[in-house]
Amino acid sequence: MFKLKMSDSEVVEIMTTMTSRLDGKGIKDANHETMVDLARRLIAMAPEGHPEETDTYLEVDAAQYTDPAIFAAEKRAIFDRTPFVAGLSHDIPKPGDYLRIDDFGTPTLVTRNKAGEIKAYVNACRHRGAALVYDDRGSAGAGFTCPYHAWSYDLDGTLKGISCNSSFGDPEKSDLGLVPLDATERHGIIFVAPKAGLRIDWDEFIGPKLDAELPHWGFDKLQGGKVAPIPLDGNWKLVLETFLESYHFNYAHRDNLAQYYNGNVNTVDMLGRHLRTATSLKTIVTELAKQPVEDWVPENYIHVKYVLFPGTVMINTPQVLEFYQIVPVTVDKSVVRHASYSRTDLSDPGNAAMYERVWESAHTVVQKQDFPYGVTTAHAALKAGGLSKVLFGRNEWALQIMHKEIRKAVAAAN
Ligand code: FES
Ligand SMILES: [Fe+2]
Repeated sequence: MFKLKMSDSEVVEIMTTMTSRLDGKGIKDANHETMVDLARRLIAMAPEGHPEETDTYLEVDAAQYTDPAIFAAEKRAIFDRTPFVAGLSHDIPKPGDYLRIDDFGTPTLVTRNKAGEIKAYVNACRHRGAALVYDDRGSAGAGFTCPYHAWSYDLDGTLKGISCNSSFGDPEKSDLGLVPLDATERHGIIFVAPKAGLRIDWDEFIGPKLDAELPHWGFDKLQGGKVAPIPLDGNWKLVLETFLESYHFNYAHRDNLAQYYNGNVNTVDMLGRHLRTATSLKTIVTELAKQPVEDWVPENYIHVKYVLFPGTVMINTPQVLEFYQIVPVTVDKSVVRHASYSRTDLSDPGNAAMYERVWESAHTVVQKQDFPYGVTTAHAALKAGGLSKVLFGRNEWALQIMHKEIRKAVAAAN
């Protein structure tokens, strides 16, 4: 696993670097109206130090995190039917480029065909099942050749060659193409279905509200593409919760992020089943609020987080996009796929250095604070029967929403 390299003061230092390197332009495609609305709401909340809240607190039973039957129902009702994000368009720009992803259950190979369309397949040869690709990313040229006995396939998954063909009775090649997984590329994001045979209604999955917002983040223009898995001893919902409130900032991140952010101040909006929350830098009050609204570049002061139901978290800052995809492994184990992309041009050495450092600091902070507090220690206590329930305050509204949405999805499927 990635080492925890950064001290708190180094995390603060990288935030200082990011702030000093902000240009006056903000994010090119940003929806100015939405950003101004978020800025107004965040400025209004900042003096009180309270986020947008719901009307009551919520108790959640320990069983929600520890009962294997509840976990199995969630897996069936939600994860086995919900697409995951394989990467961004930038990860596989040319025909034959590919990504290999095994974290979501089905061994998956995602590529681009000659026409430039995204294609996803089970990463398994139709002879005896050997994986076709072994690297996390690469280029296959015009197609894939199995390393075991050299059966070959084109980028559309069609079987092209069988070595020692006559030993197989000269089979019908069209019956032995790669097994497809439903996939699409939208607004620069590559989504893939988790199971063979599962057809996704993409419009319904993304929903009109999110579909209208995603183009404003220029995901099709990002660079970079670092990915690292973080295995965790804890239920996936505990992992999700760590991303959904800013209440902990002033305490858990007191010596790093809280130096720059307004803790316990965030917006909450539902976009269909998906969520949008926004947090702000302290400078939203000391700088932006003092400028005439006509001059505002709000995205330089606001970080906008989307949570694609149920467990894909995308945090947008003016310079980077941090992705955290939560993968449930068992009731007690999860993996977080942390990926990071750059909004700045990485051919500039200053930008490239900043991108590296931001990645490292994000990777450090979640593992040093969010996951030990919110996931591993909490899970151990819940699992041991040492706690019968946990509490979510009115200020932890987004967590309450997600718990209710998860239960609704499970109930609807059973
Ligand atoms: S398993 Fe692929 S050619 Fe034999
Ligand atoms: Fe945090």
